[in-house]
Amino acid sequence: MPELNVGGKTFQVKEGITVLAALQNLGMWKLRNSVSGEARGALCGMGVCYECRLQVDGKTEKTCQVIVQQNMQVMLNAD
Ligand code: FES
Repeated sequence: MPELNVGGKTFQVKEGITVLAALQNLGMWKLRNSVSGEARGALCGMGVCYECRLQVDGKTEKTCQVIVQQNMQVMLNAD
């Protein structure tokens, strides 16, 4: 099982799933806040809406399109 680091905490997650799926499996449905402070999370799950975008290994990524790799670093609320 790969390990995913989310905001400084390490979690073991299923292999072969997206970063978004891994986060949701961990109960992390809120990914960030909008500019007005509202909670935001994934909408489409297929790379269209950009609502799942987060910093992954230092780059902004659509997490529904990125497969988990060992020791990935994910930052919530880092738009
Ligand atoms: S959930 Fe819409 S782009 Fe990822």
